[in-house]
Amino acid sequence: MVVLGIETSCDETSAAVVSGSGDQVAQKSLVILSQDVHRIFGGVVPEIASRAHVTAIAPVVDQALREADVTLGDIDVVAVTNAPGLVGALLVGVSYAKGLAFGAGKPVLGVHHMEGHLFAQSLEHANAIPPFTALLVSGGHTLLVDVPAWGEYHVLGATRDDAAGEAFDKVAKLLGLPYPGGRHIERLAREGDPSRFRFARPMLRRNQQPGDDDYYDVSFSGLKTAVLLAVKASEDAERDAPHLARGFQDALIETLAEKVRRAAEQHDRRRVVLGGGVACNQALVEAIRRRVADLGAEVYAPSVRLATDNAAMIARAGLFHAERGERDGWELNAFATRPLSG
Ligand code: KG4
Ligand code: ZN
Repeated sequence: MVVLGIETSCDETSAAVVSGSGDQVAQKSLVILSQDVHRIFGGVVPEIASRAHVTAIAPVVDQALREADVTLGDIDVVAVTNAPGLVGALLVGVSYAKGLAFGAGKPVLGVHHMEGHLFAQSLEHANAIPPFTALLVSGGHTLLVDVPAWGEYHVLGATRDDAAGEAFDKVAKLLGLPYPGGRHIERLAREGDPSRFRFARPMLRRNQQPGDDDYYDVSFSGLKTAVLLAVKASEDAERDAPHLARGFQDALIETLAEKVRRAAEQHDRRRVVLGGGVACNQALVEAIRRRVADLGAEVYAPSVRLATDNAAMIARAGLFHAERGERDGWELNAFATRPLSG
């Protein structure tokens, strides 16, 4: 089966072609156009994102087809992210996908963006397939999911306030770093002294039990405030910036690594799959590797291209559903929020 994927949920306009069956699926092309314009505003401006998608979508899809050396006629299904995300941005992708599919006499299939992230690593690592524990950490989401099989998703925990990437971006702003700040914090933290600022590890209590409602959940707004107070109290915030970055990153990483370990241990998983932009953070990946090593668990971290938002993962998830005979009607709509189904 050959699937064209389209992704426009936030600030990347992306299209990709994948082909194959079952877990033998190859990426034939992947085009990602990142909307740099949002840097000027220090965050994604929804209306600008929608307009930029309108301008970019047709050439991005054409290029993905060309690079895969296929025509629309070769495509079996058009898969498109239809939730969650910026609704105006999603609507551009959904409308374009429907028009394209209708015109070509092909079916269309809506894909949940977070389900796409669960599939991303399987395009690079043959063993990144269920059963596994997944941690999805991006600018908009922080989700801990147990995945016994494709299509079966048990959300164990989530953030109660800021997403992990959002926390990185906000702390980066406090330290005077550019947006998006995650990779700048990571770079700065390497030069930081871990003993200078030791922030409390959020949502880690002694005696937490598997049934407790904070056993898997995370929260980063308190940590962000602690960093803010430390910046204000510092006599030389510029000199302390690497140490502050290190203290913040260590606290956030320790919380995430512990929650991942709990999930893998409780569900007896030997594979951990990471996704989302924050999964590009090598210190996080290494910390999780160390934390689950004694469980004998393998950790799969995606490359930068597949960690961040991309259409290949949407096409891959779409292929799974399409093979099960699922299709959507022309009434397919976009939704800003929607739970991960299954
Ligand atoms: O998945 P993504 O590209 O977009 C969505 O938010 O959906 O994730 C972007 C987020 C930003 O918050 C960015 O600061 C963060 O991922 N990020 C990182 C790193 N690279 C990107 N955070 C920590 N360390 C990194 N190396
Ligand atoms: Zn994403």
